Amino acid sequence: MNITVIGTGYVGLVSGTCLSDFGFQVTCVDIDDKKIKSLNSGIIPIYEPGLEDLVVKNVRQKRLFFTTDMQNAVTRSEVIFIAVGTPPREDGSADMQYVLQAASSIASFMKSYTVVVNKSTVPIGTVQQVTRKITEVLEERGENIPFDVVSNPEFLREGSAVQDFTHPDRIVIGTASERARNIMRNVYRVLYLNNTPFLETTPETAEMIKYASNAFLALKITYINEIANLCEAVGANVKDVSRAMGMDGRISSKFLHPGPGYGGSCFPKDTQAIARIARDSGSRITTIEAAIRANEYQKQRMSSKVIQRMGDLSGKTLAVLGITFKPRTDDMRDSPSLVILPELVKAGASLQIFDPQGEKEGPWRFEAIADHITFCSSEAEAYTGADGVLILTEWNQFRQLPLKEMKESMKGCWFFDFRNIYQRALVEEAGFFYEGVGC
Ligand SMILES: NC(=O)c1ccc[n+]([C@@H]2O[C@H](COP(=O)([O-])OP(=O)(O)OC[C@H]3O[C@@H](n4cnc5c(N)ncnc54)[C@H](O)[C@@H]3O)[C@@H](O)[C@H]2O)c1
Repeated sequence: MNITVIGTGYVGLVSGTCLSDFGFQVTCVDIDDKKIKSLNSGIIPIYEPGLEDLVVKNVRQKRLFFTTDMQNAVTRSEVIFIAVGTPPREDGSADMQYVLQAASSIASFMKSYTVVVNKSTVPIGTVQQVTRKITEVLEERGENIPFDVVSNPEFLREGSAVQDFTHPDRIVIGTASERARNIMRNVYRVLYLNNTPFLETTPETAEMIKYASNAFLALKITYINEIANLCEAVGANVKDVSRAMGMDGRISSKFLHPGPGYGGSCFPKDTQAIARIARDSGSRITTIEAAIRANEYQKQRMSSKVIQRMGDLSGKTLAVLGITFKPRTDDMRDSPSLVILPELVKAGASLQIFDPQGEKEGPWRFEAIADHITFCSSEAEAYTGADGVLILTEWNQFRQLPLKEMKESMKGCWFFDFRNIYQRALVEEAGFFYEGVGC
């Protein structure tokens, strides 16, 4: 079976590559000429552990191709995935222009029955919207080619995307068409044989499942962040609280780690989108609206904490360890660092930043404060001479800092561990003032 994947971002590139590894002939198409050129010369435009080897292997075995030639890709594929971005618009709703452009391109070139699979995270009703778009373009062409549109939301996480795609908790397929459903079962046959649960449902329900899942996870993170803040106020330790909570099978320990607020390319935009959808449908979802507000507050709270503890930051230098929204990715979309660092600079601080994958996006994302920041090439370079250190992303390599040595090379003794990856006693023993989140 020939498969095309439109969009070679975090989702499209991983999906296309893994599908080619399942044995299909996969063509990945993107409108970004630079991305495709880079992929064709063996350079992976994103950092995602394990992806490069898989791309190289499948390109070499002639199952995986990259192109900007939409026509060629569409005409020879029976299944076409749409995996383009759905960024937030000003009012919180998902911007559907890329999905609709992709649908329009498919309709312009398709020649025979095609299953169009929507992998992007999209508002409820998008399968209908894409169906209308394709019908409209086919009518303009004077063609009556059969097709089905399927909702197949993606649940992979950046940083473990290959593992998540190949070992998903479930596959959701939303379609009313038996023909499309059978083809989708075939696409995921490898996983079906591995006993991955399949949930087959209507397109609207499949679309809702994705938003409901992401919003719930964002809610869970926000909940523990607020519990952490309360722990600080009443003298409790959130590490023990969350550990004990997580031992309760009804709660589970996942997504129960306090931090500087959720970020990334999904939770912020998907919570905004579901809240918007709910408002537009006259069925407000107030828990999510509250989580969005609480998350904004959490980020502000982190910079305020540094300013409160250290006093006037003029003339002071902070070492910042981690600027990506999570470890094992280079993605900085909606990273808490984007809010926290400008606040610290506004309060007078100079920043020495190190992130193992922050070089790609960091310089342009922090262009407005460029005069006050220095990008360093190691943890040691970042903390040497600093008045304080601030851990914002829990990269594994930040978990074993040489505390005593570090203290000696620093000017000051502040240690802000906003991912709670250190034990207070250990850090204090090395001569620092320790501040975590709720502990
Ligand atoms: N990133 C994640 O962890 C994740 C996880 C699950 C779901 N999603 C969802 O998947 C979708 C894609 O997310 P992403 O992070 O991969 O986005 P991304 O921004 O990394 O990639 C999108 C790609 O689509 C390309 N594109 C845009 N319009 C195009 C068109 N008309 N034709 C061909 N290519 C086009 C862009 O050039 C870009 O390379 C979003 O809806 C997102 O919410 C993302």
